[in-house]
Amino acid sequence: MKDKIKTPYYLIYKNKLLKNLKKIEYVRKLSGAKVLLALKCFSTWSVFNLISKYMDGTTSSSFYEAKLGYDKFGKETHIFSVAFSKREINLLKELNGNKIIFNSISQLNMFYNKVKHFEIGVRINPGISYSSFNIADPARQFSRLGIVSKKSIKYIINKINGLMFHYNCENDNFTKFSEMLNEIELKYFDILNEKRIKWVSLGGGISFTNNQYPINKFCKKLKEFSKKYDVQIYLEPGEAVVLNSCELVTTVLDIVENIKKIAIVDASVEAHMLDLLIYRVCAEIRTKPGNNEYIIAGRSCLAGDVFGEYHLLNKLKIGSIIRFTNAASYTMVKKNWFNGVSMPSIVVKELNGQIRLIKDFVYNDFLKNLS
Ligand SMILES: Cc1ncc(COP(=O)(O)O)c(C=O)c1O
Repeated sequence: MKDKIKTPYYLIYKNKLLKNLKKIEYVRKLSGAKVLLALKCFSTWSVFNLISKYMDGTTSSSFYEAKLGYDKFGKETHIFSVAFSKREINLLKELNGNKIIFNSISQLNMFYNKVKHFEIGVRINPGISYSSFNIADPARQFSRLGIVSKKSIKYIINKINGLMFHYNCENDNFTKFSEMLNEIELKYFDILNEKRIKWVSLGGGISFTNNQYPINKFCKKLKEFSKKYDVQIYLEPGEAVVLNSCELVTTVLDIVENIKKIAIVDASVEAHMLDLLIYRVCAEIRTKPGNNEYIIAGRSCLAGDVFGEYHLLNKLKIGSIIRFTNAASYTMVKKNWFNGVSMPSIVVKELNGQIRLIKDFVYNDFLKNLS
């Protein structure tokens, strides 16, 4: 069956997903935190049946994501948007009974009367963050993400019962996480102590499913915080949920030479793993290292459509299969039809080993994408 599926395709391994989910379950049990899947990172809903067994719900960045979480995942649906439109606020009626988080005081005041039936929180920009990339740094200069002025919170405190701090990006350093949480505590102590605040989301960007992450210390820290202020902690991981659980499987279509050997595969970085370009990092590939040097590149016309440069044990030839690993986070949610290159299918390897094609894209999908 597997051999019949044409490349390119994203291959999601449920057993690898399960490994992360078991860690998440452990964190939920040990720390008391509730853990929500950040749909902005991964929203391939065909595997929600597995993920939803181990998580408390979803968090979203738009009405569509919120609706997807509500319809396809269930459990808790947290609704956030950097800026809601009136129309979206009216549509939210469909998603009764969940939490809504406003990014600013003006949005909260503008829509308060329409969303009173939700539990309401606001996003705070604590002015500190952990991110190696300026583009992903929520506390960067002039950031629009969250309320900066602490003083202004006291004017809206009677309208809310939750706070959200998203201040990490790929943070695998527990000490740093812990120190920053202490800083946040110190700065917002009086607000946290208000008995009105019932829940605090610490956002995503914490690499707690990494093998090396001190997960017990992490749980202890979360539990202490939650006890001290009598609040329900939420985490909103995306990347940590799907870490290393997917490959982008491709075939070499051509090998050209320009001082170096360049293998061109039947996928594109720009169209299928866009974050690699945004963050200027190389794709990880599943192969044994050796002395055969290749640049592996995509087949869009963008000169910089390059997955990376590799030293491989085996020589590549036309028809060789190349598997890019860690291909779940921020890939399928960002794929696009640039150049009209064929879209990777989505394939799932079930826990019993069965390979299942869950989504195939054809010319009509390209056609319907625009009009
Ligand atoms: C508010 C919020 N929550 C959660 C996440 C998920 O982060 P990650 O996928 O790094 O865990 C993000 C990512 O940008 C975010 O902005």
